[in-house]
Amino acid sequence: MKFFIDTANIDEIREAHDLGILSGVTTNPSLVAKEGVDFHERLREITSIVKEGSVSAEVISLEAEGMIEEGKELAAIAPNITVKVPMTLQGLKAVRTFADLNIKTNVTLVFSVNQALLAARAGATYVSPFLGRLDDIGHDGLNLISDIAEVFAIHDIKTEIIAASIRHSQHVSESAMRGADIATIPYKVISQLVAHPLTDAGIDKFLKDWEKANA
Ligand code: E4P
Repeated sequence: MKFFIDTANIDEIREAHDLGILSGVTTNPSLVAKEGVDFHERLREITSIVKEGSVSAEVISLEAEGMIEEGKELAAIAPNITVKVPMTLQGLKAVRTFADLNIKTNVTLVFSVNQALLAARAGATYVSPFLGRLDDIGHDGLNLISDIAEVFAIHDIKTEIIAASIRHSQHVSESAMRGADIATIPYKVISQLVAHPLTDAGIDKFLKDWEKANA
C-alpha cells in the first residue's frame, strides 16, 4: 500500500515529502478553504514539490459540463494532477469524458461497493471510500475496503482503491491488510504512525548505556 497525504497545507506536504514515503497528495474544497489561498496557485506549489505522484484537485461544479471544463483547467496545471470528481450521475459522465481524454480521475465520496464499481466502469483511475465518515454513522468503514478490494479482484478491475477519511493508525494498517492500494492520511496521523513507546524507550536505553560506557 502506498501513502498519500490528505491536506492542502504546503508545510505538511513538504514535511511528508522529505520523509521519502509520499506517493501523492489529495485535497478537497474544505482543506483548500482552510488554507485561505488561491486554489490554482496552491496546486502549482504542491506540484512543484510532488512532481511525479498523483495530486488530486476537486471540481466544484455539480453538472458534468462544468466538471469537465473545470477539470481540463486543473489538469493543465501539471501533468500529475488527478481530477477529483464526486460520486454522482453527473460525476460518472464527467469521469468517462476524462478517461477518453486520458485525464486521470479520483472518484470521491464513495460509501458503497456499487458506487465503487460504477466509478471503475466509468473509467476512474482511483476510487476513494471514506472510512471515518462511515464509522461516524455507526457503519464499519474498513469492511467497505475489504468488499471493494474483493469485487475489484474478482472482476479484474485495475482502478486503484484509496482508503480516505482516515482518522487513526488502525485505519492505516487495516486498510493495508484489507487490500487498499493507497491510504490518504492527514499529517497528524502520519506522525502518529512513526511513534511507538518501545522505540522511544529503546533509544533512551541505548543512549544511557552508551553514556555509562563512555563516562
Ligand atoms: C479524501 O480524498 C478526502 O479529502 C478526505 O479523506 C476526507 O476526510 P474527512 O472525512 O476527514 O474530511
